[in-house]
Amino acid sequence: ELISKGNHRHYMLKEIYEQPIVVAQTLRSYLQRMEDRVTLPIPEFDLSTVKRVTIVACGTSYYAGMVAKYWFEQFARVPVDLDVASEFRYRQPVMEEGGLMIVISQSGETADTLAALRHAKAEGQTIAAVVNVPTSSMAREADLLLPTHAGPEIGVASTKAFTCQLAVLAALAANLARAKGKLNAAEEKAIVKHLSEAPAALNGALAYDETIADMAHLIAGARDVLYLGRGTDYPLALEGALKLKEISYIHAEGYAAGEMKHGPIALIDDAVPVIVIAPSGPLFDKTVSNMQEVQARGGKVVLISDYDGVQAAGEGCIATITMPKVHPLIAPLVYAVPVQLLAYHVAVAKGTDVDQPRNLAKSVTVE
Ligand code: G6P
Repeated sequence: ELISKGNHRHYMLKEIYEQPIVVAQTLRSYLQRMEDRVTLPIPEFDLSTVKRVTIVACGTSYYAGMVAKYWFEQFARVPVDLDVASEFRYRQPVMEEGGLMIVISQSGETADTLAALRHAKAEGQTIAAVVNVPTSSMAREADLLLPTHAGPEIGVASTKAFTCQLAVLAALAANLARAKGKLNAAEEKAIVKHLSEAPAALNGALAYDETIADMAHLIAGARDVLYLGRGTDYPLALEGALKLKEISYIHAEGYAAGEMKHGPIALIDDAVPVIVIAPSGPLFDKTVSNMQEVQARGGKVVLISDYDGVQAAGEGCIATITMPKVHPLIAPLVYAVPVQLLAYHVAVAKGTDVDQPRNLAKSVTVE
């Protein structure tokens, strides 16, 4: 291998640890700190003309897109359609004039996403590509290139590309909001401040590596695991479940915490660990009440929150993971770390091939 694992046992772990640096590297090209502005490397494009956004991606990149949907609608008040690429083309999507299609892809080569890009381009959409490989097909075929600077990602399960995608998408959401007149200078300054705090917070999250390794045995013996979250922590719950499935082969499901009562609650017993992702904030109490419904049915909860959240709701959980207290905007980046580390350590405990899990490919170039 050309790229070394350094002191790490697996590429995946090395890449998890690179996140503070590569996210900082990515943000550097999108934030002008001195001026408290968020800039995109696409000066020629006027975002104020965008009427509708369509986001298309696969796998982990799709979950980055799902977080972005929350952000674009919240900050810029622009409606967003979100699709997995393999569904997009075949459902005859309606794309209006003046639409922006965003494809998100680490490799820039995923066949379904590339086909969706071509389809939307033929329908007159402006294409923005958030890609990690600047020489890739998507990078070449897009109208606007929004690169992530994660560096080469070797582990099949995507980690650092995800947090870098989130960094770029947050910058794009801020730009779109400004262009749409929904963001004043003070609000933009605050966004720049929060985003610039992400690398240090990611470092803070990595400090819990050993704690998470110590609790891996609580999950490693399970047959099924449930992940719950609300708001932008819902896509994180989905991403957590995907990571665990990919590398440990344990069946896992991510669910919107409030939707659990419409089905998955029937599965709860003391053999199904439930990972609850709930930073303190406006949605915390609601998520905690869903968590208590799980506990009342004998479910074993691992709570991932910050100090205040763990203090308020940690009692009765089989384990807690305490993240640094961060602004909700950067919570999805920071909470990605414990979710990745948990999947990693469970896989190591099970002895699976972490970097090259069975049946999976780094880049899927067939439909
Ligand atoms: C494969 C990989 C995933 C990745 C997905 C999308 O399934 O195993 O880790 O998230 O493809 O890849 P892309 O390169 O388009 O982000």
